[in-house]
Amino acid sequence: MYGLGPDKRPRWAILVPVAIIATAFLQSLLLLAIYYDVRLPATVSWRAAPELHSAQALTRLPPFSSHDTDNYRWYTDAKLRQLAACTARGDCGPNADKAGIAIFASWHCHWAAYANYTGGEGVWCVGMMRSLERQGFTVLHGGDNDWRYIYHLHRQLGDMVRVIVADPGEEGHKGTFAQYQKSAAWPDGIPAWKWFRMTYYPTSESGIVGRAWMISAEPNLPRAQDVALRASGGVSWFATGYEALQVKSDPADFTFLGYGLAPAEYTAVVPWAQRPPRVYILAKQAHYFHNGHQAVYEPSFFTRAADELAAEFPGFEFVGGFADSRSADQRAAWPVPAVIRNLGLLDKHRFDEEYGHARLLLGLGSPPLSPSPYRALARAVPFANPHTVQNGRWTYQQHESMRDVPEPYAYQVEAFNYTSFVETIRSALRTPIEPLRFERMRRETADGRMRDWIMYDWRGLAAGILADRLAGNETQGNGAVGVFEL
Ligand SMILES: *[C@@H]1O[C@H](CO)[C@@H](O)[C@H](O)[C@H]1NC(C)=O
Ligand SMILES: *[C@@H]1O[C@H](CO)[C@@H](O)[C@H](O)[C@H]1NC(C)=O
Ligand SMILES: *[C@@H]1O[C@H](CO)[C@@H](O)[C@H](O)[C@H]1NC(C)=O
Repeated sequence: MYGLGPDKRPRWAILVPVAIIATAFLQSLLLLAIYYDVRLPATVSWRAAPELHSAQALTRLPPFSSHDTDNYRWYTDAKLRQLAACTARGDCGPNADKAGIAIFASWHCHWAAYANYTGGEGVWCVGMMRSLERQGFTVLHGGDNDWRYIYHLHRQLGDMVRVIVADPGEEGHKGTFAQYQKSAAWPDGIPAWKWFRMTYYPTSESGIVGRAWMISAEPNLPRAQDVALRASGGVSWFATGYEALQVKSDPADFTFLGYGLAPAEYTAVVPWAQRPPRVYILAKQAHYFHNGHQAVYEPSFFTRAADELAAEFPGFEFVGGFADSRSADQRAAWPVPAVIRNLGLLDKHRFDEEYGHARLLLGLGSPPLSPSPYRALARAVPFANPHTVQNGRWTYQQHESMRDVPEPYAYQVEAFNYTSFVETIRSALRTPIEPLRFERMRRETADGRMRDWIMYDWRGLAAGILADRLAGNETQGNGAVGVFEL
């Protein structure tokens, strides 16, 4: 996601290596996978009489296979036949009457659904698809930006297709949006206002219509937000005013859709009394200890703090689970503090288990915006969010969404300030917290945003933006916006 935007979309032939690089690059985001079964369901129940074998054959979804990534057409064909069948029977379930079809064809979505790709955007996209399906909307798969096929679907389904999530596409691959865009000369084309692009965190990009056609996994939080924290029944809930769908075209901004976390009943919380005085270091790679402008601590801080805290908290330790793929020179130049017990790279279950037994998840500056702090808070493990200050201003922080979470849930640690470092750890070792969950990640809340997004009057909003644009009043900034046919 960072540096692997849709414009650097890999070609088919190099997609697997790119996915591997992306996966390595986004280590922390792999962990999101625990919240969803990344594979989509392979079977559906068919409620008609068992002798209707042809009905079963016509509506059967393809088996999951990481080697047969062209199964998206089978999946989509079967989904459409299921929709036709339930429409004819009159038992489609909620929302099917709303002509609510979404087509997902971004490469992240495709490779997450068909090739075990569990990088951040992949898991986020599967979460979006599942949320819509859970609510009775029909989700079709358009492969890895197979615009020829999306066009073929759109010509048949027309107004029933409300939204399309895809990248711009490539001529030499399976076509581009531009090749199939509706225009005065080609009224059968796909209208630009149906096309949404994914970006994990808001950047400066824009869709053809405007910035609201960029959807994001993290909100673009302004500092003045509607922050509220309330405790109820052993779980604290944190709200920021970004719970409901917000469509911002004036001033133009991204559309935050985000993802939901697994409900509390699936989240194990280790009782405070069973946790040793342990600080878990959030890092899957040793180079995070010295990661350019994201570096936040002197290596000596760990040794000093361990010495200082051992007397006060017998058995105190720093624990981490990271790989070290650096060269011998780099290792010599940036030794990992020997005082840290490295458990090695952990799978997601061991990771949960290990930091779940800690009293603090300590951020090292990298990776930014990972989902791990949300997961830790849900397990009643506070997060230390480091930030760099220059002339009184925060110039870098690890996790923007943690900035307004109060102590003792999140601690704001000043970079290269030993006092701030050791005092944060000391407070966390002494202060138990309740599990903390973000209201915007409550499954029902996230589902509500997805429902409101697919049902939103995007054509109406686009019509206003277009009228302003044609009158010379550009309201969407100077991104990749353009003139389009409604
Ligand atoms: C993909 O995931 C499934 C389910 O976890 C697993 O059975 C399969 O071996 C995986 N395939 C690859 C290529 O990793
Ligand atoms: C370091 O952090 C402490 C505790 O937060 C703070 O009181 C102090 O002013 C900071 N020192 C500097 C030089 O910023
Ligand atoms: C441009 O369009 C916006 C949104 O419709 C409107 O609020 C604004 O007044 C317009 N500006 C001009 C100069 O027409």
